Amino acid sequence: MHKILFVTPEAQPLIKTGGLGDVAGSLPKALAALGHDVKVLLPRYQALKTQGEVRFLCSLRVDNRNVNMLETRLPDSRASVWLVDYPAYFNYPGNPYVDERGTAWPDNAERFALLCKVAVEIALNRGYLDWQPDIVHCNDWQTGLVPALLALESRRPATLFTIHNLAYQGLFPASTAALLKLPGQLLKPEGLEFHGRLSFIKGGLVYADRITTVSPTYAREIQTPAFGYGLEGLLRHRQAVLTGILNGIDLEQWNPDTDRFIAQPFNAASLTKKPINKAALQARLGLPLNASIPLFGMISRLVEQKGIDLVLDCLPQLLKLPLQLAVLGSGDKGLERQLAEFAGAHPEQLAVVMGYDEALAHLIEAGADSFLMPSRFEPCGLNQMYSQRYGTVPLVRNTGGLADTVADALPGTLADNTATGIVFNEAAPGALLEAVKRALILYSQPDLWRKLQASAMRKDFSWQHSAQQYLALYQSIL
Ligand code: ADP
Ligand code: GLC
Repeated sequence: MHKILFVTPEAQPLIKTGGLGDVAGSLPKALAALGHDVKVLLPRYQALKTQGEVRFLCSLRVDNRNVNMLETRLPDSRASVWLVDYPAYFNYPGNPYVDERGTAWPDNAERFALLCKVAVEIALNRGYLDWQPDIVHCNDWQTGLVPALLALESRRPATLFTIHNLAYQGLFPASTAALLKLPGQLLKPEGLEFHGRLSFIKGGLVYADRITTVSPTYAREIQTPAFGYGLEGLLRHRQAVLTGILNGIDLEQWNPDTDRFIAQPFNAASLTKKPINKAALQARLGLPLNASIPLFGMISRLVEQKGIDLVLDCLPQLLKLPLQLAVLGSGDKGLERQLAEFAGAHPEQLAVVMGYDEALAHLIEAGADSFLMPSRFEPCGLNQMYSQRYGTVPLVRNTGGLADTVADALPGTLADNTATGIVFNEAAPGALLEAVKRALILYSQPDLWRKLQASAMRKDFSWQHSAQQYLALYQSIL
């Protein structure tokens, strides 16, 4: 049995802004179910949705400040959640990282440095908690200082740093290092410095015992200039300790047979009931009720990563095709405005809902015929896996985890029942448009489409396999 401290800035169902939230909720759950002792460490944001008792755990002294630690449960799991309770940093409304206008909170460096320093106190058992992890598993830049600070200690647990998205690095002015009282040994170009700035993510990339990212393809991609943001050299240098482990999905939360957010539960044997969800989705979004028109869904942070610009660029042509498109998302205000304008001009084909809506996300997965994910890059991506489980044929770009989880419908894969979606290569509006046309041709052949749905629904995206891979990795560094 391992003792694992899982450090993360978000974890579903307590708080989530994207896929990291899903993973930080479901991987600890899978590890705990395999008998391991897992504590998930995250900040106590105001927006946190805890379930059940929240009790005082201890008080820690960090940089001459008193920080209270609280404990609660990860719902439906034996894993505990330890909360860093520091109201001056975390007790205000909104998103963990940005304000309502999408601007990063001005004290993000201090906020997440505190999370890291608390993790270090716990890792070294300095909190009188009588619990010391043998593995500290860190996730994304917000936790990057943990491996760096622990590297300076002689008797310390092993560290693993998982890159969920290399595009977010936690870069701050060099002067921030003094504000955070970071040890001088770390402040050098081969340490936390990145082109004259302080980089949180480099703490993970330089100092962790092992590095993982969330798909094998993304693990290769980030070692190239096109995906590496100038960190590709460092990642190549560390390639012996860098691996890709595909994310799993939470089979309980994303189960079309028991999903409480959808209009009509269904499974592979009762696929004929899926259209009830399509009708419910059309009704909910004010789209014309039409069972035969192909309905495409999208659920996304509206950021450049997701290829929304590709969709916008070909929308005039897309909307000339016989299809409906339902988009749920929030993010970049310019992208939001452009989508809203198109929706206003084409209400009979395009419905756009701005904001974050868990229930609608489930209904889109259940009700759409096909799911669009034309990402420019995608470390793993979860919605293409949810889609396959819901018999909603994903249409994705050939990158990162999308490439690793969707099998393109080609004559060979259709013949041997391995095709589960539509995959296109080039990040260009024309390529996306061609892929949508290909989807329409497949959709017009009900037997073929049903085959695709059936193969997609048969796929196993459970955590079982991936959790074992993490355990093997933990084992290898102990
Ligand atoms: P990323 O982490 O890059 O945003 P993923 O595909 O890994 O991409 O995960 C995104 C997760 O966030 C999915 O669970 C998706 O359903 C959810 N999500 C994204 N945007 C919204 C939204 N506007 N409303 C509800 N859920 C959303
Ligand atoms: C990131 C990535 C996404 C991945 C998620 C969980 O947010 O953008 O591709 O699925 O993390 O690992």
